[in-house]
Amino acid sequence: MRKKRLRVGVIFGGRSSEHDVSLASARSVMSVLDPERYDVVPVGITRDGRWLVSGDPMKQLKTGQVEGGKSPLFLASPGRVAETGLVPEPTSPVSDVFGSIDVMFPVLHGPNGEDGTIQGLLELASIPYIGAGVLASAVGMDKVLMKAVFQQHNLPVPNHLVFRASDIDRNDHVECVVEESIGFPCFVKPANMGSSVGISKAHNRAELWPALREAMRFDRKVLVEEFVDGGEYECSVLGNDDPVASVVGEIIPCNEFYDYRAKYIDAGTKLVIPADLPNEISENIRELSVKAFLAIDCSGMARVDFLVRRATGDVLISEINTIPGFTSISMYPKLWEASGLSYTDLIDRLIELALERHAEKERCWRESQSQTSSDGGVL
Ligand SMILES: Nc1ncnc2c1ncn2[C@@H]1O[C@H](COP(=O)(O)OP(=O)(O)O)[C@@H](O)[C@H]1O
Ligand SMILES: [Mg+2]
Repeated sequence: MRKKRLRVGVIFGGRSSEHDVSLASARSVMSVLDPERYDVVPVGITRDGRWLVSGDPMKQLKTGQVEGGKSPLFLASPGRVAETGLVPEPTSPVSDVFGSIDVMFPVLHGPNGEDGTIQGLLELASIPYIGAGVLASAVGMDKVLMKAVFQQHNLPVPNHLVFRASDIDRNDHVECVVEESIGFPCFVKPANMGSSVGISKAHNRAELWPALREAMRFDRKVLVEEFVDGGEYECSVLGNDDPVASVVGEIIPCNEFYDYRAKYIDAGTKLVIPADLPNEISENIRELSVKAFLAIDCSGMARVDFLVRRATGDVLISEINTIPGFTSISMYPKLWEASGLSYTDLIDRLIELALERHAEKERCWRESQSQTSSDGGVL
């Protein structure tokens, strides 16, 4: 007998400056989902947050000719609503689509997608989904909290300072503090962003203020980080409680640093896979990748990025990305390909991991229900 095909929802677009990157990633993912085994349900999110599930959401987002769209609050499935308390629109075709999905793949980058918000919605709707849960997504998105968690686990990160917009507006000593404890050049970044949006390299005091202002356009929390003079390396992680690390890749940006243009616009950035590194350093990077993944309690997948000081060979964790770029030429799947796992097999594995993680959560939920009902309603 033929096995029932899994209905896989792929969510893309979204209210993020990485909207277009998400479309590119989602197109690649959808193109490799085997139609014999999976029914793909495309779910587009407009730049203003409306969810599109009928027609061809990818085409609508690409052309900007959007028909209708719904608030996600109306997307909970009627079947699941009793458990979740979300109120669907009873006759909406949207809730029918959403309710029938077996597993969701949020292919969204940046705030409102990679940061735990969509993951929270999927938790409430009791839909299995690929990748990190609410907590790991939120911590992985916020560079300040991410670094604090890494430091708590004795994982090496670059020296940095954190400012809030209100500190910057009030405090005219910010430049002195940066000069004394970080020095120049330094990197200035919004805490919650991706794709290098809002990031500048301040070469001197005169460039610091404009860099802070630029970062503050995107977040009320800003990091100032020491410039690490060296190479940039990335490692892919896959798994739930026993994650494994891929081979290591190197990024050689075509610009002064790996800025938005070097990532997506200007040709010339090189990916070297596997990276040309002494074995000891690559092994260190692979070990640190798994530790970083576990430190934030991640699930499914993540790409961990590193800076390696040229002068000393010290390896520092730059960041963890819980929804890495997913086009067929992106580093995350490329590193797995070089480690012996094809793009198609990678997606199959991510689906399995999502279903495993969901089954585990459901089991815990059932246990907690039977425990509270056997307590006989003490409260
Ligand atoms: N401390 C640093 N030293 C050297 N280069 C850095 C540093 N921080 C960031 N960069 C450069 O800026 C890029 C983007 O920074 P990153 O923290 O990875 O932000 P994003 O989340 O936007 O990718 C990095 O890939 C690297 O090229
Ligand atoms: Mg980065």
